[in-house]
Amino acid sequence: MLDVNMSVSEISDWLQTEDQTRLNTLYETADKIRRQRVGDEVWLRGLLEISNYCRRNCLYCGVRAARQTSRYRMTGDEILQRAQLAAEFGYGTVVIQSGEDTSLDAEFIADVVRNIKKRFSLAITLSLGERSENEWIAWKKAGADRYLLRFETSNPILYKALHPQPNDPNYPHRIVQLKRLREIGYEIGGGVMIGLPGQTFDDLANDLAVFRELDLDMIGNGPYLPHPNTPLGNLKRQNGFWRSSALNLAQSGITFSNKGEVDPYFCYPESEQQVPNTNDIAFKVVALTRILCPNANIPSTTAVATLDGASGRKNALERGANVVMPNITPEKYRALYEIYPNKAASHEEADATRRLALKQIAEIGRRVGVGPGASRSFIERASTDRGRSK
Ligand code: 5AD
Repeated sequence: MLDVNMSVSEISDWLQTEDQTRLNTLYETADKIRRQRVGDEVWLRGLLEISNYCRRNCLYCGVRAARQTSRYRMTGDEILQRAQLAAEFGYGTVVIQSGEDTSLDAEFIADVVRNIKKRFSLAITLSLGERSENEWIAWKKAGADRYLLRFETSNPILYKALHPQPNDPNYPHRIVQLKRLREIGYEIGGGVMIGLPGQTFDDLANDLAVFRELDLDMIGNGPYLPHPNTPLGNLKRQNGFWRSSALNLAQSGITFSNKGEVDPYFCYPESEQQVPNTNDIAFKVVALTRILCPNANIPSTTAVATLDGASGRKNALERGANVVMPNITPEKYRALYEIYPNKAASHEEADATRRLALKQIAEIGRRVGVGPGASRSFIERASTDRGRSK
């Protein structure tokens, strides 16, 4: 069965299938549903990475707090200039993303949002991590439209292993937060990494079922790409276990003070079910996501383009995706937002990134969406709510 009601074990089977005939059916079904539900438009979102400061120490991420690396934070004027560029480029949305940077205070972001809304006809997506409810409410009032908060994995043990700070809340904390963000009025977006060490096909199938359960408006997934300057990036498979060196851990500032505590990734058993971090799996995830969440906006993500360039991006668009997020971060900062190495377009000018996206969309016979491009489920939900309150 290949429809919206698939069970977790059916999803897991599809993720593991290598049969080319079955895969063709999967991709054709996803592409057909994409066309019927969200049409041929590809929505462009200008991605602006405003700060690489971060207070967290996620084991996979190249901008984790413990890493010695150059940090930058854009000024309000710089952000407005780039929003203007997004508007000039005809992008209907600007995505404002950063590490969890507490120096980007509530008022600063609210001002930025108000100023962008006043000057340009742009939808605003915020992707600033876990912040307080009051901040989220203030930013919504200021005019922000959407909030992205990936939950990274729905397996609570894996989540805990990857987010080791004592004050890091556990899964399903982010699920609770996404629901709250929806109540506040945002279109909500989530997603996971594909092929994290310790992630099984059943975990990934469960992630997809969570997308469906939350009826997410936006779903962005990409392959996990090891960063050599992170603890997880140095993990090796050895005798059926994931191993890292003690030196490596110490350099990363990770210590396990509680002697009784099992170091979760030092000895994480490697399962036969381990998901590879490849685009082949990423395409299956895109296709299954479209089938399970037919109305969602689904990007062909930067991580997919990083592995396979143009063909990766186009493949995802032909297997369920309907959004591209061209980078508009100023060139001088772009390479510093290095969540993983060799990020696509990290040495490219915003205009070159734009031209490439337009060319790829034309090559596959699709057209660029004009306007904000809200998710179809969000629009439908809003009109049912209006109907109810009448
Ligand atoms: N590889 C792939 N994706 C990563 N992210 C962070 N680090 C990596 C990595 N090493 C993703 C996370 C985060 C998003 C901004 O980038 O899913 O939510």
